Amino acid sequence: MVINAPSLANINLLDFGKQVNELVEAGVQFFHIDLMDGHYVKNLCFPISVVKDLKQKYPNCLAEVHMMVDNPMDYIETLKQYGADYVAFHCDSTSFVRRTITTIQAAGMKAGVVLNPSQRIDTIEPYANLLDYIIFMSVEPGFAGQKFLPGSMERLAELARFRKGNGYDFKILVDGGVNYGIAADCVRNGADMLVTGIYMVFEQPDGIIGACDRFRNTLKDIECCI
Ligand code: DX5
Ligand code: ZN
Repeated sequence: MVINAPSLANINLLDFGKQVNELVEAGVQFFHIDLMDGHYVKNLCFPISVVKDLKQKYPNCLAEVHMMVDNPMDYIETLKQYGADYVAFHCDSTSFVRRTITTIQAAGMKAGVVLNPSQRIDTIEPYANLLDYIIFMSVEPGFAGQKFLPGSMERLAELARFRKGNGYDFKILVDGGVNYGIAADCVRNGADMLVTGIYMVFEQPDGIIGACDRFRNTLKDIECCI
């Protein structure tokens, strides 16, 4: 079953605790947390301590951190201390991709790299065998609520074929603009996890709990066909 990974960046901060609690009540166990530094992307999102706050209150949930920062190595020790479970960084944000992956894993966390829409899939070839997961961007990083970019489905299929053809076992998390019209196709084309935002779980007429049920019902019998 594909994992529902709500992006906390979509929550109105004045309503943050209440909506996170609703997500947990709706059965969500995996949270996508965007960290931005105002340099790698021209935006800011949460303080890194949101990871600690989430894990203290909901220790059984998994915190998946999407770093949109320069020098990702600088954050790994703190993320470990705060209890992060999955940590990914953009593959063009450091000259030391391999070392960053192995440092995340040596700290006991799952490691991923993030592929932007303009990056070739085979960019990841030199270290693909090390990866626990890939965040596949279907929007340009930096802002929540954008539209799924044209051509992203074909690129996702290309990534899934690259994985299968080379016998890699990394998981694929699709991030950006996923909606109910394309969610099933994302799974058919290789997604194991979907970042869900305002088109999937937030600001929905049936509320967070209804929308999370809809996510499960819509995708329960869908499988990757690549
Ligand atoms: C964009 C972020 C996404 C975003 C996804 O920089 O990486 O995680 O919050 O949410 P939607 O799909 O609503 O844009
Ligand atoms: Zn993200």
